[in-house]
Amino acid sequence: FADKILAGIRVLVTAGPTVEPIDPVRFISNRSSGKMGAAIARKALEMGADVDVVAGPVTADLSGLKVTSVQTATEMLNAVKDKLGNSDILIMAAAVADYRPADYSDIKIKKTADDMNIRLEKNPDILINIAPLKKDMQVFTGFAAESNDVRENALKKLEAKKLDFIVANDISRQDIGFETEDNEVSMFFSDGTAVDSGKLPKSGVAEIILEKAYDIFRKKNGT
Ligand code: C5P
Repeated sequence: FADKILAGIRVLVTAGPTVEPIDPVRFISNRSSGKMGAAIARKALEMGADVDVVAGPVTADLSGLKVTSVQTATEMLNAVKDKLGNSDILIMAAAVADYRPADYSDIKIKKTADDMNIRLEKNPDILINIAPLKKDMQVFTGFAAESNDVRENALKKLEAKKLDFIVANDISRQDIGFETEDNEVSMFFSDGTAVDSGKLPKSGVAEIILEKAYDIFRKKNGT
């Protein structure tokens, strides 16, 4: 196996959805199993890295991994900020909820009204919030799940979120991506290059992503 090329390297991976509560029993969230993040964390461990996972409520198996569990995007932001100073490579695979209920009700909302509105407010963008904390030696990677104009949208996010590279997948395809075993991604790099993974099990995609992150880490750190 691709020997332990990540030995001594600290990898921080986020995984899964975030959950944004409406009241004690209800929430809004999104369709993310956490499988891609889990696959990256597990592969990084196999490749010799010290791995930290910050995860929302995932269905994927995180056993044997060092996990900080969070619920909301705000909690995930705080957990990532906490761990970031001790990380060399950050891989933001979490599907963070874009919006949260503007008001939380401490008591269960009764179904007396015939209709109701839940006002949402925007969650903080974790990558944009931590961009100013990034050290020159660190490698940051994010994901872009796109249903159209994959390349164009991915490149915009690469730039806006100040990433070293972004991993894009086409969620209009049923056979890959969300809640499936396989994935096929395109990686867009800040130097303008791009690489396609081809369709692979998520562990194979994870390995390619980690190898690319490692290449950039080596270049930055002259090793
Ligand atoms: O903008 P979009 O949500 O498509 O970007 C996806 C990337 O940004 C993913 O890496 C995701 O983890 C990250 N993200 C974030 N904070 C948010 C939303 C997404 O860091 N609030």
